[in-house]
Amino acid sequence: MQIAIDGPAGAGKSTIAKMIAADYGIIYLDTGAMYRCIAHRVLLQGDDFSDTEKIIKLAQEAEIRFEGEKVFCNGEDVTESIRTPLVSLHTSDVACIKEVRELLVAQQKKIAGDQSVIMDGRDIGSVVLPEAEYKFFLDADVTERAIRRKKELDAKGIEKELASIKQEIQQRDDNDRNRVEGPLVQVEDAIVVDTTGKSIDEVCAAIKKYIDEVR
Ligand code: C5P
Repeated sequence: MQIAIDGPAGAGKSTIAKMIAADYGIIYLDTGAMYRCIAHRVLLQGDDFSDTEKIIKLAQEAEIRFEGEKVFCNGEDVTESIRTPLVSLHTSDVACIKEVRELLVAQQKKIAGDQSVIMDGRDIGSVVLPEAEYKFFLDADVTERAIRRKKELDAKGIEKELASIKQEIQQRDDNDRNRVEGPLVQVEDAIVVDTTGKSIDEVCAAIKKYIDEVR
C-alpha cells in the first residue's frame, strides 16, 4: 500500500499522515524533515546557501534516520532544531538543488520499496511514488494555515507575528511551486482535500473513507 500526500506548507499533511499511518499500521515518512535536515546542516556549517557544491556534499554526508517521532541526522537528535522558522525559511534553498533532490528521492523510493508507506511532501505523487494507489492533495486557505503554524510556534514558546508567518508561508509556497526540480504540483490523479474550516478528525475520516472504498 502506497499513499502519497502533497500540498502547500501548513495544510495539515504531517498530522493527517501520522494518524492514517497509525490506523493502517504502516510506516509514515516525513520527507520534509529530510530536506530540513540538509538546511539545518548548512546553517550549522557556516550558513552559506549560495555554495551549491558544499550543500551537495553536506547532503551526501547526511545520514538521516527516523526513530518513532524522532529525527536523527548523523547521530544527532534534530527533531526540534529542524522545525525553527530559520530552518523553514532556508529549506527551499536546498530543496531546489537537483542533486539534493535526487539523493533524497532515491532514499525515499528505497524505503517505499520494502514496505507499505504513507509519505507527505511536495513531489510524492509526481516523482517519489508516481504509481501510488492513493494520492491526495491537501490544501487550505493561507490565513488559516498561518494561524495553525502560529499555534504550533506558540506552543513551543516561539513568538512570531501572524503577518510575517503568513508572508513566509506564501514565499515558501511560491519557491516550492516555481522550482524546476520536483515542484509542488497537484497531479491529475490526486484527490483534492480542502482542509479549511475542517477538524483533523474530519479530514482524516474523509481520506480513510476514500481509501476504504477503493481498497
Ligand atoms: O513539509 P515541510 O513543510 O516540513 O517541508 C519543508 C520544505 O521542504 C518545503 O517547503 C519544501 O521546500 C521542501 N520539501 C520538498 N519536497 C518534499 C518535502 C519537502 O521540496 N517532498
